[in-house]
Amino acid sequence: MTQLASAAVEQYRRDGFYFPIRVMSPGEALAMRRRLEAVESDHGGRLGGELRHKPHLLFTWLADLVRHPAILDAVEDVLGPNLLVWSTSFFIKEARDPAYVSWHQDATYWGLSAPDVLTAWVAFTDATVENGAMRMVPGSHDEQLAHRDTFAPNNLLSRGQEIAVEVDEARGVDILLRAGEMSLHHVRMVHGSPANRSDDRRVGFAIRYVPTYVRQIAGDGDSAMLVRGVDEHHHFAPEYPPASDLAPEARAHHAAVVAQSAKILYRGTGVERFR
Ligand code: NI
Repeated sequence: MTQLASAAVEQYRRDGFYFPIRVMSPGEALAMRRRLEAVESDHGGRLGGELRHKPHLLFTWLADLVRHPAILDAVEDVLGPNLLVWSTSFFIKEARDPAYVSWHQDATYWGLSAPDVLTAWVAFTDATVENGAMRMVPGSHDEQLAHRDTFAPNNLLSRGQEIAVEVDEARGVDILLRAGEMSLHHVRMVHGSPANRSDDRRVGFAIRYVPTYVRQIAGDGDSAMLVRGVDEHHHFAPEYPPASDLAPEARAHHAAVVAQSAKILYRGTGVERFR
């Protein structure tokens, strides 16, 4: 089913992003946040690096979210009918937390063969200027820019990567979302986000979708989960949703997948696992 009007798809192609799109009610988003917080309290407060990467392979409520019709219908409008989830991760900024995301393009280290890669960023809380909403530079998705790795401690990105040339920050648009809404952005979109200056945490869940014809060209053994249509290409090893939250088979599957994807994403850095 179609979710986006053709003008919205055109806007996405021109600007490299589109928002807001309502995915669930604020009450359902709050329930998601509470589920995350229950998992956090079971794990001593915060999720470790490996639990933040591809958690939809561990928790049924996230496996269901990546197949949510309101998300998939919008993604299909942009990427077509045969869709894989290549990755997911939480982007959490605690109240008054100095954590930030430097200006970057997601495509830089992902090793994917085509820029037909889309992030659906689902807001579990409101995303506001004060709590560190993403900023994006319209039209910046046309070319790949050079980046440098910083591994800066407060940077939420895997390598602390940042764009090596001047970014025209004044042109940045604040991606403001209410809880239960999502934004879509292109894999070469120039984006970043400041620290959270508010008294509550900001929680987003990023889902990376690719059409089945895309392949991993930076390393072997990458995997993804088919969520709509058919995969006639088999470029990615199949991933499976968990039978129940943290089921032993799901944990083993997730551990193997995460180890392999760390090898690909951290190639050449000496880092072996997710931070
Ligand atoms: Ni990003």
